[in-house]
Amino acid sequence: MTSHRTYVIDAIPGDGIGPEVVEPTIACVDRVASLHGFSIDWRARDWGSDRYRRTGAMMPVDGLDALADGDGILLGAVGDPDIDDVTTLWGLLIPIRRTFDQYVNVRPTTVLPGVQPAVADAVGMDLVIVRENVEGEYSEAGGRLHRGTEHELVIQEAVFTRRNTARVARYAASLADRRGAALVSATKSNGIIHSMPFWDEVVRDVVREEHPGLVLESVLIDALAARLVLKPRSASVIVASNLFGDILSDLAAAVAGSIGIAPSANLDPERRHPSLFEPVHGTAPDIVGRDLANPIGCLWAASLMLEHLGEHAAAASLHGAFSDVLAAGTRTRDLGGDASTTTFSRAVLDAIDVQS
Ligand code: NAI
Ligand code: MG
Repeated sequence: MTSHRTYVIDAIPGDGIGPEVVEPTIACVDRVASLHGFSIDWRARDWGSDRYRRTGAMMPVDGLDALADGDGILLGAVGDPDIDDVTTLWGLLIPIRRTFDQYVNVRPTTVLPGVQPAVADAVGMDLVIVRENVEGEYSEAGGRLHRGTEHELVIQEAVFTRRNTARVARYAASLADRRGAALVSATKSNGIIHSMPFWDEVVRDVVREEHPGLVLESVLIDALAARLVLKPRSASVIVASNLFGDILSDLAAAVAGSIGIAPSANLDPERRHPSLFEPVHGTAPDIVGRDLANPIGCLWAASLMLEHLGEHAAAASLHGAFSDVLAAGTRTRDLGGDASTTTFSRAVLDAIDVQS
């Protein structure tokens, strides 16, 4: 007899539509888990902007320690129109990514069934963006002098290390190898003359030494952005710096249909620490509280989480369930339908029963 498997997952719904998409996702994950012989021990964390207003901090001082022994983290979104984004982002999400060395951010994009992509040629696109997730342009190095005067001066440094660039390139190259595809590397070595030639060099060396058969295409980021719109099926795996990967993944999600469907996995591939799974979208203040949020980004992120936990059948069943609901014509408003978050999520629960 196999023992019953239980995973400890921290749920951080966060702000805005975060709780609106995390709550139905938990229900769907519980359903799929019960049908596949395991269970999730959810640890609810009410961290975010409300907590910041009450206590002056997005999370408790020992928050990171509290997450450290879990098997994973499911996050909604953080951000509040009345609090600056630096406070919310750097008070919660970025410390989690860095403390747990979640150095790759995997962001898949496909056109789901029944979804009308923004670009007709996107049907059949199957892209994974591997974004560097702990350094690069998102750096604390720099400063601001002579504030408010006409001599004001600002310096924002980008930080690239050989070890980290190489390990991100390694992850992306082995993914491209497994997919039998070329590796596309986003660069800007014509304009950014120190970090980007370095990026190109390290990526090239990793591919040459560890994946000698793999085709590597280094493409300038501006041209790559245009290419994703004009020929969305022309790339399978893209490796990109923190900033470039962030921008490209919103672009790819929009090309494929909606930012509301895009998932994101912040991984520590060596599994020394918990990894974090979240939708790509933010808190969507313009639709909050109206039962309009598309829960697919969060559901798909949860499916990536199940994959990471080794629960492949359950992951496929969850992905299959929301795909089937879309294929049957039930869609939220961002996808041109009229289903509410609640209606869509209930349909996914039912579809899970059919799948399993
Ligand atoms: P956003 O993703 O929240 O919204 C952009 C547009 O997409 C809005 O029109 C919104 O209604 C729509 N949208 C987003 N998610 C949707 C969903 N699930 N269903 C239907 N429509 C959806 O991005 P925005 O407006 O740039 O940022 C709002 C706040 O969210 C900011 O405070 C920002 O810092 C924060 N943010 C947080 C992120 C995170 O927690 N990882 C990521 C991105 C933004
Ligand atoms: Mg983004």
